[in-house]
This record gives sequence, C-alpha cells and structure tokens, in this order.
Amino acid sequence: MQSEDETHKDIIGISGDKKNYETKRSMNLFKKTKRLIPSGASSLMRTSSWDDYPIFMNRAKGTRMWDVDGNEYIDFLMAFGPLINGHSNEKITAAVRKYIKNGDLYGTPNELEYKLAREFKKFVKTQDMVTFALSGTDATFNALRIARAATGKDMILKFEGHYHGLHDYGAVSVEAPPPVAGLKWFPKSLPYSAGIPQGVMDTVVVSNWNDLEGLSKILRIRGNEIAAIIMEPIMANSTLVSPEPGYLKGVRELADEYNILLIFDEVITGFRVSEGGAQKLYGVTPDLSSWAKALSNGYPISAIAGKKEYMELIGNGVGYGGTYFGVPISLTASIANLKLLETNEFEGYSMLGRLTRRMARGIEEIAEDIDESIFVNYETGLITFVFTEQKQITNYRESIVMDWNKYKGVQKKMLQRGIYYHPDGAERMPLSMVHTEADIEAFLTALRESIKEYNREN
Ligand SMILES: Cc1ncc(COP(=O)(O)O)c(C=O)c1O
Repeated sequence: MQSEDETHKDIIGISGDKKNYETKRSMNLFKKTKRLIPSGASSLMRTSSWDDYPIFMNRAKGTRMWDVDGNEYIDFLMAFGPLINGHSNEKITAAVRKYIKNGDLYGTPNELEYKLAREFKKFVKTQDMVTFALSGTDATFNALRIARAATGKDMILKFEGHYHGLHDYGAVSVEAPPPVAGLKWFPKSLPYSAGIPQGVMDTVVVSNWNDLEGLSKILRIRGNEIAAIIMEPIMANSTLVSPEPGYLKGVRELADEYNILLIFDEVITGFRVSEGGAQKLYGVTPDLSSWAKALSNGYPISAIAGKKEYMELIGNGVGYGGTYFGVPISLTASIANLKLLETNEFEGYSMLGRLTRRMARGIEEIAEDIDESIFVNYETGLITFVFTEQKQITNYRESIVMDWNKYKGVQKKMLQRGIYYHPDGAERMPLSMVHTEADIEAFLTALRESIKEYNREN
C-alpha cells in the first residue's frame, strides 16, 4: 500500500507538473447549491472570493483534504484556524466518540465545564475566570456587553480592518475603502453589512491600529464615553500585521487613563501564537478576552475570560447563556485538544515556531530569486505573503495596497499543484502541529513554480 505522501505525489504531482486536474463536480455542486442556499454555502467567507466556483471538500485527515472530484490537497486554510492539531485528530475524535455514548446535551451543569475551565487556566494564566459560549461571535458580543455594564458607558472603540464576528457592533469598518472612510487617524465608522441600524453604528468609534498618537487624540475627544477598546492583538484578518513594539502596552495605559476596559479578541491568536495567546507573547494583559478556533480543534465552542471583578458581573446584572453554550462534545474535544497541546510543557509551540520561520524564510528566498514584490510576515503558527511594493505593513490601509488579482491568480495555480489556501489575499495561513517540513517544502516548490508561471503569463 502506498503511504499518504506517495499517493499525494501520484495524484497531483507536488513537484509542479499538473496531471488531470478536474473540478467539475465542485462546479456542478455550486450551481445546484446556490439555488437553495444563498451564495452557495452557510458562510460567505467560503464562497465570496472565488472567481467561478469554490472547491467542495468531502474528506480530510491530518494536513490533507480531498475534494469531491478526488483531488488531494495539502491544507493551509485549516478551517480558518481551528485545526491546530490537524484534521480528524485520532486522540480528539476518540475522546468525542467515547463521550457521545453518554448523551448529547443535558441542559444542566456538567463536570466537563469545570474540567475545561481548569485546563484553560493552565494555558491562560493571565485571566482569572472563564465561561464558555458557541462561536467567536458570541464571545466578542458578550465581552462587549460585560464591558458596557462594568463601565456604565455605551460606546466601543474598534480598529479598521479588525474582525470580531458578524454581530452589529463587530461588523463595523472590517472593510473600509479609504476615500469613503476618510481621515486615517480618525476614520468614519462604516457598516460591513446592510441591515445594521444607524443607532448601533453611532455607538462604535473606529481608530487606526498601531497608531498610539491617533488613538490618544480620539480618546481626548470621546474617551469618557467609551466602555471598551476591542482589538485583535495581532491583526490577523487583514493579512497578518504584528503590533509595533510598545503599542499594546501604550493602548493598555490609555485604556486605564480613561477608565475603558481593554478586550483582546484572541479568537485566531489563542492557543496558537503561544499557549497563552498574544497576551502572553506580548506581555500585556487585557481586562477581558475572547477565544475560540484553536481551543477545540474544530468543534463549536468559544470562551470569554477576564478579570474576576468583570466576569462576576455575569449573573449579577449581566444576562448570559445559550442552549448550546458549553456543549458536551465540544467540551470533550477541547479538553483532549488542550491535553495534546500541553505535552512536554508546551514544546509543540517551539516546533510550530520553527516550522513557521522555515516557511517564511522559504518565501523570502523565492522573493530574492524571482519576484521582489513578495512581502512576508509571520507569528508562530500564522503566516501571510502578499504581492506589494511596500517594504512594511503596519495597519489596515497599508494591508490593502496589494496586487489582489495576482494573489488570486497564483492561488489558482497552487490548487492545481495540490496546495489549498484561501484566494482572498487578506486571509492569513494558519499552520498546525501536524504540518511537516515536507508539507512546507511542497508548498514552497509549488509557490515558486506558480509565481514563475503567473509572471510568464501576465
Ligand atoms: C478575530 C476574530 N474574532 C471573531 C471571529 C468570529 O468567530 P466565529 O466565526 O466563530 O463567530 C473571527 C472569525 O474568523 C475572528 O477571526
């Protein structure tokens, strides 16, 4: 029997030769699905950036996914971040399979919640208490409500290009075309969707990220009305942008000065850039934080954590709950996932850091050899590359100055070479503990060939 690696080479030729790459079944499924489901999938992120039709997957294991036409890919989407231990991890699925015999949902307290909270605290030592919800959207929404209750103020401040889920307060200035958004240091709040009431929009102030001076000017004007500053501590929804030295600490000090709660949205960075998230990595502690994706390795769950005085407002004035908050199988999967991640004092994170650096260095080598317009950034377990003339990207407005068409064109060629990632240049690539050096080398070989081919044709 062939190993998975051999099969992979056979089907798609990771060295660059494209054999019989067909995606007709995906095309037909998309046509049929669109008639019943608006945009063809239950989340627009899965379909909106594809030119003709997206690829429909129906099986995945480790770092591999197989589409409905039988093509095999090495996955660099990892379901937008959750799969820190890879697809269908045996230890996690075994735990779920074993537990599910006990029932699905009780609607009562359950010991698994305590067990996961205890595990969570081993990772996130910076926060006193934690509670569980269903999605990242639930987590940021409830964190904002707690902050409003705690401060008695209504407004929140978020940053251009940061994404906190699709609830009305988060879906503001996720995309913000500069001519419409106006001043860089004090951008207008722009709705990310039709249907957000103006009254809600009026409670959201927007700032330019990585710009302490801009933020302090805004706070001088509106600071006394603002309940919470919410941010992705590493901006990961508009390519991948790291905080400038001292920036997070500066925001922390400004928040304290104006009696504003600081919320770190660690939905992407949590359990990924370090065991304690970006707050551990950068040494800045928020008042509240939201966690999801890599907490469970693919099961629906999120967490809100924070300082005791704020978390204990839940049940003391702040309403909280949901039928599916803290579902037993998701709690089970999360406990199994965290147990894997804490092996040998979290040594996996050093390995993941090395792997990410190797991939970044490999992309830089391609840039040096064949295409100077490639720009790379990375944090442990997260990597981005875009085509741009800029030598640095520090905020949203710089992040959108890129050759989007080239990114998409190269992504198409990568698919043909068996490498899967999102066609939207704003999406970063998450790596996992099960990606191997061979996966990274396959990515780099395919990228070199794809860029060469794209540049020849354009
Ligand atoms: C930083 C961040 N916060 C919140 C969310 C929303 O999470 P969910 O899609 O689980 O609702 C996302 C989703 O990608 C995210 O990237």
